Amino acid sequence: MVQTAVLPPCVAADVQGDLRERSSIAPDPKADHFVEELLGRMTLEEKLGQMSQVALNAPGGEISPEDRVRRGEIGSFLFTTDAGQINRLQHIAVEQSRLHIPLIFGFDVIHGFRTIYPVPLALAASWDPEQAERAQGMAAREASAVGINWSFAPMLDIARDPRWGRIVEGAGEDPYLGARMAEAQVRGFQGDRIGAPNHILACVKHFAGYGAAAGGRDYEESNISDEQLENVYLPPFHAAVKAGAGSLMSAYMDLNGVPATGNRWLLHDVLRERWDFSGFVVSDWESVKSLTTHGFASGPEDAAARAVNAGVDMEMTSHVYRDELPAALKDGTVKQATLDQAVCNILLAKYRLGLFEHPYADVAGAPAQLVTKEQRDAARSIAAHTAVLLRNQGNLLPLSRDVHSMAVIGPLADSKPDTMGPWSLAGHYDDTVTVLEGLRRRFPSGVTIQSAKGVEIDRGAPTIFDALFQSPKPTLTTEAAKEAEFRRAIDLAKQSEVVVLVLGEEQSMSGERASRSSLTLPGRQQELLEAVVATGKPVVLVLLNGRPLDLTWASEHVPAILDAWYPGTEGGNAVADLLFGDAAPGGHLPLAWPRSVGQIPINYARNTTQIPEDPEHRYWDGSSLPLYPFGYGLSYTSFSLGKLKQSAPSVRAGASLAISVDVTNSGRLAGDQVVQVYTHQRSGSASRPLRELKAFKRVTLGAGETKTVTLAIDTNELSFWSPQTHQRSIEPGPFDLWVGTDASASDHSSFTVTR
Ligand code: BGC
Repeated sequence: MVQTAVLPPCVAADVQGDLRERSSIAPDPKADHFVEELLGRMTLEEKLGQMSQVALNAPGGEISPEDRVRRGEIGSFLFTTDAGQINRLQHIAVEQSRLHIPLIFGFDVIHGFRTIYPVPLALAASWDPEQAERAQGMAAREASAVGINWSFAPMLDIARDPRWGRIVEGAGEDPYLGARMAEAQVRGFQGDRIGAPNHILACVKHFAGYGAAAGGRDYEESNISDEQLENVYLPPFHAAVKAGAGSLMSAYMDLNGVPATGNRWLLHDVLRERWDFSGFVVSDWESVKSLTTHGFASGPEDAAARAVNAGVDMEMTSHVYRDELPAALKDGTVKQATLDQAVCNILLAKYRLGLFEHPYADVAGAPAQLVTKEQRDAARSIAAHTAVLLRNQGNLLPLSRDVHSMAVIGPLADSKPDTMGPWSLAGHYDDTVTVLEGLRRRFPSGVTIQSAKGVEIDRGAPTIFDALFQSPKPTLTTEAAKEAEFRRAIDLAKQSEVVVLVLGEEQSMSGERASRSSLTLPGRQQELLEAVVATGKPVVLVLLNGRPLDLTWASEHVPAILDAWYPGTEGGNAVADLLFGDAAPGGHLPLAWPRSVGQIPINYARNTTQIPEDPEHRYWDGSSLPLYPFGYGLSYTSFSLGKLKQSAPSVRAGASLAISVDVTNSGRLAGDQVVQVYTHQRSGSASRPLRELKAFKRVTLGAGETKTVTLAIDTNELSFWSPQTHQRSIEPGPFDLWVGTDASASDHSSFTVTR
């Protein structure tokens, strides 16, 4: 056990290194010494100050935030994004507080700061960790330019229920893809070490199990078996910790009956003891205070004691630590060493970030670092890289360059917020290029582009972001105006050679507190889609969305469907690049796409059960297969895969098995393909899923080109936590192996894992 009570606090986390799978944050004795010395000079109030994060504009008491900073009573701000404001507060902390401890400024840099990149679900759809790293690296550069030191990202919650609005913030349903995206994003935010120039601290969230909120209803309890928690929900977090993530956020909800923010098993036994995490833990928004609301803590003092004893170092926005921990220390429910360890963890992060040496932002230089050409170019190419082509009958796409007239229709076609998507709080509408604008810019003359909203969509219920986003208000307010607009859209379609319909969900329909009970296209969009298709014109459906939507009808009647997700600032240009073939869609789905809400959950990695040969008829009233499988995505070209080859028929546990396959671009255009490797353990101490992704690679091939793609199955990835043995191990024995381009891959082989 870690002996926090007897060891100097800052080294306590390192004592069992040999027994654990270590976090890759390098130990730094100089930092430990610096922090311990500083800790020795701190008063209790100053220590509690470091453990306190506040929102500048939150209603305060009689003492202003500035005075609190002066008194050393605040350690961090969130939601302060103006460089001047940040520096003003930092000057107060560094020059006017007794111990000159710098503040750490946190913000939700979820998919970009001022330049908005595609949403995280889209980054996962790229199946290209390098591009996810690049996007978060570019975002970190902008955020750090204004003085933000810390992003509340990446979100690593595995989500298998698209009703849950926050599915948009993660990497989808799969722990292996999720883990690769987790590592990549940590590297993107932090660079090669915490404190690398132009980078910021990552905060992996929400630990853990938030994605399994009951019924997809945001904030509801998660009930997850130990087997699923260990094998599905925790692995991306573990991967991020191993990649050196410097901070972690505890989740809001009850996990199997214990609130995550008061869950010592999660935050101490797993995170600190098993994984050797040496960063710091922040609560979610008021989630320390709400331990009482959960009916877990008996009141504020108990809430504070339970959270800090569980391992929450910093409290976000509520102030029960500040108000209640002094009494808890006196009562003995919290030990001084526990509190000191929390302060150490925070101070170490500030030290590692270099804040004690370079606390200030370059206020004058900051504006020139925002929405630069380099940022825009990156945002445009990454947005194109994340799009998924779901259907392309008769090769309608890419569109002919000889097209003379086009109708661009739909409520999202010219909407800046809905191109940016949720969690784009520092983005500017003015910077953003909509699909309509992207297409118009591409054809300054010669092509007639007419546009109509057709229908309006409106969430019709308040959101927690209403005060932060100035979302445009509906303009079609009367029934007559709505009917006239609908008819105008159909008329424009009839007058045009081709129709681009931009449908999906508004920014506010996805994200936090944005869960839905249905997956249909909101409002009258389905009716509009059917009416436009009925004109007989070729129709391209471009989706802007953060979750799968019901495309059952569209998948049979609309010739081309391109999922652009929420593509960000350069979204419209990227879509124009894709529609006209200057970029080729090559993304693949990071989740299985259900036909309807009734199929949820429909993730591919399920266990085999009775009558396995008939997976399609588990319901008598409809198919039980998804509309599109996990890993699915088309291209403008066609590919063929040769027979898979493996380096050996068997592999020793701990070693790797090499798999190779020839991929040929058999079409006439360049394109990308994602080669995916799935395995299945045939027998063991527990049943294992039918298929599990264990390796993948995205490759680009010119027309007619063949490449041999080599991938390695790391047998450590075949280990699993067994509900029988309660241990993680690789169980020797026979495995099935498939290689293909989605989870229905049919090229099959097998191998044996030996001791
Ligand atoms: C969310 C977090 C977010 C925090 C700060 C909370 O409501 O759950 O994901 O980082 O607010 O904005």
